[in-house]
Amino acid sequence: MSEASSTATSKPARRVLLAVSGGIAAYKAPELVRALVRQGQTVRCALTRNAARFVTPLVLQTVSGHAVRTDLFDAEQEGEIDHIALADWAELVVVAPATADLLAKLAHGIADELVSTLLLATRAPVLVAPAMNVHMWDHPATRDNVALLRARGVRFVGPEAGFLACGWEGEGRMAEPATIAAEAERLLGAPTLAGEVVVVTAGGTREPLDPVRVLANRSSGKMGFEVAAEAARRGAEVVLISGPSSLATPAGVRRVGIETALQMRDAVHAELARCSVFVAAAAVSDFRPAMPAKQKIKKEALGDDGGLVVELVRNPDILAEVGAGDRAAGARSEPKAGEVQQDGRTRRLIVVGFAAESEDVLAAARRKLERKRCDLIVANDVSRSDAGFDVDTNAVTLVWPGGRDEALPLLPKRAVAAQILDRVEQIRGAR
Ligand code: PMT
Repeated sequence: MSEASSTATSKPARRVLLAVSGGIAAYKAPELVRALVRQGQTVRCALTRNAARFVTPLVLQTVSGHAVRTDLFDAEQEGEIDHIALADWAELVVVAPATADLLAKLAHGIADELVSTLLLATRAPVLVAPAMNVHMWDHPATRDNVALLRARGVRFVGPEAGFLACGWEGEGRMAEPATIAAEAERLLGAPTLAGEVVVVTAGGTREPLDPVRVLANRSSGKMGFEVAAEAARRGAEVVLISGPSSLATPAGVRRVGIETALQMRDAVHAELARCSVFVAAAAVSDFRPAMPAKQKIKKEALGDDGGLVVELVRNPDILAEVGAGDRAAGARSEPKAGEVQQDGRTRRLIVVGFAAESEDVLAAARRKLERKRCDLIVANDVSRSDAGFDVDTNAVTLVWPGGRDEALPLLPKRAVAAQILDRVEQIRGAR
């Protein structure tokens, strides 16, 4: 029996991909695998060719209990699990040790062998444990690469200072395997939102004009789905109320599909009695056609050049309703919207809104924060091509009551979601 399969644990196993690059600290990789396996994680390993000169794949296979990948183009290894499937499989990628060369590849999107290709292909968070000579660590090229990677949401552990294998003393020694494993466990998500019921709206609504035409917008749902996925990873019960979207429902999330703003409002109110955190990432249509036609509108009926004038009426503002708590959520004994009952006490719901703006972003977001009585507004500059609708990254500023703003760098939406939920935990802790 392998060491991995003999480890007993009551926690659900999480999927960790350990990527090992070619530095002397690679000899500590088996110890790291054992620490992760002891936590109850399922660990698979991928090595660069140079890493395989410092630590044998056989050792890592034995301690992890899984075949080890070393080659991008080896038909047998691809047959076992192809490299894209491996990148998708990972819930967390740990790079230990990470050489200066690998950091440079990761920063610049170079995918010229197995490990760098996996790092480019994965959507999982990445934890990097650098290990290198002190002058390589101090080199401006490495410093720039590290800054770039940090800004993109890559997490670092170490390096530590001390005597280095190269004979120099200084910063560059890989963090201890136990430290890396502890950081990995933290990133895999302590159940910090356990006990919370998080309701997230996502995607765009569709307002029918007739049975075939709709008023819609460009929201893909990506931002809201990432918030829902992150809340589930943190142990919350999550309800994702989404407009039409081709995205897969995140693990551990209950999805409620809706089309129109009115349906979204009903779905939100149906969840409010139990909801403790409400995050409104959806792009809800502010208007809907007053009288959707029962049959398809025929252009012939409008004459040769006839245009079509459509009367629009206002949709309810779901976020403002939740923020104000102005609709009873059901029977008298139940808490009102805007409030939640927990441990026999009435607690106010935590309400996070978004503001999609193309000009005067912060001023407009601040007005929405106050009008919709949110605890936090995520101001989204949607004039940028790398932020907002239907892209994988976002650039947001968190706007707080009392005039404080927190601008975040351009980040993957998954990292933005993590930042938002960190703030939700902060708000909860302050109450
Ligand atoms: O889905 P993606 O492609 O990933 O794109 C992400 C996003 C750009 C949609 C997202 O980041 C975002 O900014 N969502 C809010 C979009 C929006 O409609 O913003 P708004 O400024 O119009 O509305 C302000 C807030 O009120 C939002 O939280 C919105 O959900 C809410 N609202 C708006 C109108 C309405 N009738 N009811 C609401 O609840």
